[in-house]
Amino acid sequence: MKSPLFLQLHHDNQEAIHLELLAGLQATNAHTSPKYLYDALGSRLFEAITELPEYDLTRLEASVFAEQAGQMRQVPAGAAWIDLGAGNCKKSASLFGRFKPRKYVAIDISVDFLHESMAALQLKHPALDMVGVGIDFSEGLRLPDGVSDPAEPRVLFYPGSSIGNFSPPEAERFLRSVRTACGDHPSSGLLIGVDLVKDARQLEDAYDDALGVTAAFNLNLLRHINQLAGTDFNVRDWRHLAVFNAALSRVEMHLEARATTVVRWQGGERVFRSGERIHTESSYKWTLSDFEALLRGAGFGVCQAWTDSNQRFAVYWAGV
Ligand code: TRP
Repeated sequence: MKSPLFLQLHHDNQEAIHLELLAGLQATNAHTSPKYLYDALGSRLFEAITELPEYDLTRLEASVFAEQAGQMRQVPAGAAWIDLGAGNCKKSASLFGRFKPRKYVAIDISVDFLHESMAALQLKHPALDMVGVGIDFSEGLRLPDGVSDPAEPRVLFYPGSSIGNFSPPEAERFLRSVRTACGDHPSSGLLIGVDLVKDARQLEDAYDDALGVTAAFNLNLLRHINQLAGTDFNVRDWRHLAVFNAALSRVEMHLEARATTVVRWQGGERVFRSGERIHTESSYKWTLSDFEALLRGAGFGVCQAWTDSNQRFAVYWAGV
């Protein structure tokens, strides 16, 4: 049996993280970077979100694959399957029976998240070449040399509508880097899941569920920031807010001060007035035609989309 290789290339720069967070908190419109939502507790809360009745993205995407993977003939078999944000590797693993990759490249910010899941996956696929790579691709993807042979096709896999967490110009820039990472083999391409625009009420409920799991997920960011930047946020002083901004086609997540509060850190503080907000994340929702135009603009060739019967979620194949 083979065993997975691991390559950790990203290293946290504590000082830079600290400065970036404090700059965001001091901005007139305070904001933070969504990547800090996913500490150990945040990642577990996000998994719980995917099981909520209101948050249907994960289930819809799974149903598109379950019902239509047979029709996705453009996706090459025997490819290097490159998973962007692999985490527990479950989504990719559920598709291996259909797409039969020769190699699995799991990418996440830290290989620590990948060790257990990849070891378990190797037991099920003893002959599969497996590599876990720790890089931060939020500013653009650069595949390290040698993780995939340029002579074999590549399937870049980016599920879960994570692309929605980039603004349209950022998304185009990111997708350009993904296009480059696809290489030149004519069968290569990108398999990507995208949440589509729908009724505002449904969108807001998906990001503000009745049980308050999403609120806990968003509020947990404050605990994580306290650890990273030495701030003294009291979670109880804040409330979670999700608003669909139709003009920008995005659901905005905010944390709103319940009353005027002062947040302090070494060498500084900020007063937040009652009702003042910190913008924590946006989740852009696309139409089928705008997303195809985005893929084309990023340099991809032929695109094909599959959706659920109500066109709430789309899976695209974008060939090179
Ligand atoms: N990528 C997910 C999305 O945009 C992340 C997410 C789900 C999220 N619920 C959230 C981010 C609530 C912040 C707050 O759908």
